[in-house]
Amino acid sequence: MMKTQIISHLPTECPWRDTLYWYDTIDSTNTQAKKMAKNGAKHGTVLIAKQQTQGRGRMGRQFHSPAADGIYLSVILRPHCPPAQLMHLTCAVAVAVCDGVEKVTGFRPGVKWINDLVAKQKKLGGILTELSIDPATQLIDYAIVGIGINCFQKPSDFPAQLQEMAISLETVTGIKPSYPQLVAAMIQSLWNMDKMLLCEKERIMIQYRNDCITLGQEVLVLRGEGKQQGTALGVDNDGQLLVRFADGHEEIVNSGEVSCRGLYGYSQ
Ligand code: BTN
Repeated sequence: MMKTQIISHLPTECPWRDTLYWYDTIDSTNTQAKKMAKNGAKHGTVLIAKQQTQGRGRMGRQFHSPAADGIYLSVILRPHCPPAQLMHLTCAVAVAVCDGVEKVTGFRPGVKWINDLVAKQKKLGGILTELSIDPATQLIDYAIVGIGINCFQKPSDFPAQLQEMAISLETVTGIKPSYPQLVAAMIQSLWNMDKMLLCEKERIMIQYRNDCITLGQEVLVLRGEGKQQGTALGVDNDGQLLVRFADGHEEIVNSGEVSCRGLYGYSQ
């Protein structure tokens, strides 16, 4: 059984191995995790699916999640802090995912601000974090951390509209990584991340800046109807992007969408 194999690769001291759920098929592990969190599921509950029928990405996009070709994983966290202290969560997860992939394959992916994992200028995966605030306390009730990674697709396995944009770990590294080992490495690095999340923010963000391929690049900032071109100068400790625009003014970008010149999804 896959769940047993995954658990066998996790250290016995990792408490998350006791709250691990495996699904052969599910709409979305994030959607399911939300339902479980609303029903009181514990911090460190992990959901993994072989396949998702309605995998979701940021900005209401789809995340293509065919059976046995990728990792589709969500974790429920309950940090009980104000949301302002967790602005760096997506960045911390990105670093953790890079750690996990590197541990198993020796290859460290890049990160396209803010939540995309990239290799060879193509998308290897993505992260979708969703927060729920307790209205009574204004603290976080739960955070859902969702990770999707393309693992075993050949280039021609991707749907035609994704072939120019997407790539799998197997294609990047030239070797077929072990699925249960990869999933276990992912869970373990997310568990490590969780322990450092609030007390090692600076260190996490230094690593994020090292992994982030957007820095120094030209970016197209898309906001509502508007588009503006600029250069990505830095990422602050809340994960916000500092951009210098063509007219010389600098701005912090924290919402809307930033697309990077020369990378998938941005042609003009
Ligand atoms: C993105 O590309 O914008 C983020 C993609 C995140 C995909 C993962 S797969 C597991 C979890 N469940 C979902 O529906 N989405 C995330």
